[in-house]
Amino acid sequence: MTGISLHMAVAGLLATSTPLFICEGASAQTLSDLTQVCAGCHGDQGVPTEKTTPVIWGQNRDYLLNQLNDFKIGHRKNELMSPVADSLSRTDMEELATYYSKQPWPNLQQPAPPADVQVAAHAVLNPLNCRGCHQMHYQGDMVRPRLAGQQDEYLLKTMTDFHTGERMNYIGMHVLMKSVDEAALKPVAAYLASLQIAAHPK
Ligand code: HEC
Ligand code: HEC
Repeated sequence: MTGISLHMAVAGLLATSTPLFICEGASAQTLSDLTQVCAGCHGDQGVPTEKTTPVIWGQNRDYLLNQLNDFKIGHRKNELMSPVADSLSRTDMEELATYYSKQPWPNLQQPAPPADVQVAAHAVLNPLNCRGCHQMHYQGDMVRPRLAGQQDEYLLKTMTDFHTGERMNYIGMHVLMKSVDEAALKPVAAYLASLQIAAHPK
């Protein structure tokens, strides 16, 4: 997408009043130009505009960078996100990952029904030792994403994508999710979405 700015690329996708202008070449996009575009979907204050769009504010840096790269090279595909990543340079991606990892994670206030907690914690998360990789509070680490307090519907969507093989950029999660009964994914998503972390432990 050489020579076309990110604003141009996503203008057709966004129903916002984001100003449209043409940069002098793809590399001329500043961090603030870029974050303005991201905010159209991922939110001004870190609260995404759609329930199936993930929180990226406060997400772990190397995980963010890996995902941007995976969207760009086509290992992960999404009709909204792929065209955005396509127009980013390596430097853009590094700057964006660093920037978003330093923002505060928004509190989405998504309490889980007690029945979901039972199914999630006892039937799925503990036996499969999700904490072994996603860490004690589901805060993740450099390459493993934070799951605690993520958007409920996004978690359900992406776990379903791993389950069906639609998302294949990390084979380990695909294999694991394939072994989980599809009906259990909803309570797992609700439980993880309800978790809060007082201060983001890194
Ligand atoms: C047109 C809407 C839209 C715009 C603009 C947008 N995104 Fe996204 N983004 C999405 C959606 C939807 C997903 C979830 C894709 C999926 O379900 O696989 C996503 C996923 C992501 C992910 C993966 C997060 C995770 O938890 O796996 C990252 C990182 C990301 N976007 C970063 C950005 C950055 C940085 C920008 C600005 C340069 C941006 N996005 C602009 C819609 C958008
Ligand atoms: C062997 C380590 C490992 C285990 C065990 C593991 N995960 Fe993951 N998980 C990962 C990694 C690594 C990623 C990032 C994949 C990528 O780079 O796309 C991930 C990604 C995810 C995502 C996507 C988050 C996002 O923002 O898109 C979800 C949801 C998830 N894991 C849930 C779980 C659940 C639930 C369990 C337990 C059933 C689990 N994981 C167990 C390593 C693991």
